[in-house]
Amino acid sequence: MPFDTVKLLDGYDLPAIAFGTGSTMKFTNVKDYVEQALNSGFSHIDTAAFYRTEKYVGIALKESGLPRSSIYVTTKYAGGDVEESMRNSLHDLALTFVDLYLVHAPQFLGDFESGWREFESLKEDGLVKSIGVSNFSLEQLQRIVKTARDRPVVDQIELHPYNYAEKKDLLEYCAKQGIVVEAYSSLNSITKNPGGPVDAVVNAAAKRISATPNQVIFAWVRSKGAVIVTYVIPANINLSKERLWNVGILFQHEPK
Ligand SMILES: NC(=O)c1ccc[n+]([C@@H]2O[C@H](COP(=O)([O-])OP(=O)(O)OC[C@H]3O[C@@H](n4cnc5c(N)ncnc54)[C@H](OP(=O)(O)O)[C@@H]3O)[C@@H](O)[C@H]2O)c1
Repeated sequence: MPFDTVKLLDGYDLPAIAFGTGSTMKFTNVKDYVEQALNSGFSHIDTAAFYRTEKYVGIALKESGLPRSSIYVTTKYAGGDVEESMRNSLHDLALTFVDLYLVHAPQFLGDFESGWREFESLKEDGLVKSIGVSNFSLEQLQRIVKTARDRPVVDQIELHPYNYAEKKDLLEYCAKQGIVVEAYSSLNSITKNPGGPVDAVVNAAAKRISATPNQVIFAWVRSKGAVIVTYVIPANINLSKERLWNVGILFQHEPK
């Protein structure tokens, strides 16, 4: 497998890069892209009830023929009865458990203490291996940790060089607590804010180590101890393999 793993608080291994099926992919049939991601070495697929991509992820996983133990699936809760939402996701994914179930955003949880308790029950019932949160601020994460029996193992957040300063306290807290940060939209400087001051630094680093700018940014994410959640497959399916492979070699060559 071309990608490494990180150890979660609860002892499970989390693949350090996930193929995302949200953002520009949400509400679309992602089956072919997920298949291609699996063929390219991704073992971690990130989906969410809100994206309405779970059904296509499920079809792709089934058709891949890969053993369940070699695939890592994250999905996310978007409100309503917690157990019912989980069972709906499992139905759409055609799985008996997910590896990681996240509260997609703090507003979905309602009362933090009782809402998180329900997440803990899913774990006890074996419907999920690990539980975590997404888009939780430092203060919101601290509130969960204060009353949790099982601390969230992950906080999936937007993280890139342009918002690093505002996320630094959260990253430090997570490191101290053993909570893994997952970074989405880490390519922001390329995709949403090209022409900013980060470009020159990233391009120079890419040139120096014969890497692509994407690789440099992903290496930056990993250097902050975070896991990468990315959608790197372009509409042109022939290009995507090359791009995925480029991401893969990042972890096989130590930058000099
Ligand atoms: N928890 C949450 O609330 C939340 C929020 C947002 C996202 N996410 C998760 O994170 C995943 C990734 O999110 P994201 O799409 O924001 O992340 P991203 O990986 O930072 O951005 C992917 C986008 O960047 C483009 N891209 C990649 N390399 C490029 C390059 N060199 N030049 C120009 N464009 C390039 C891709 O275009 P191509 O199509 O050409 O490859 C794609 O549209 C989502 O699918 C979802 O699973 C979670």
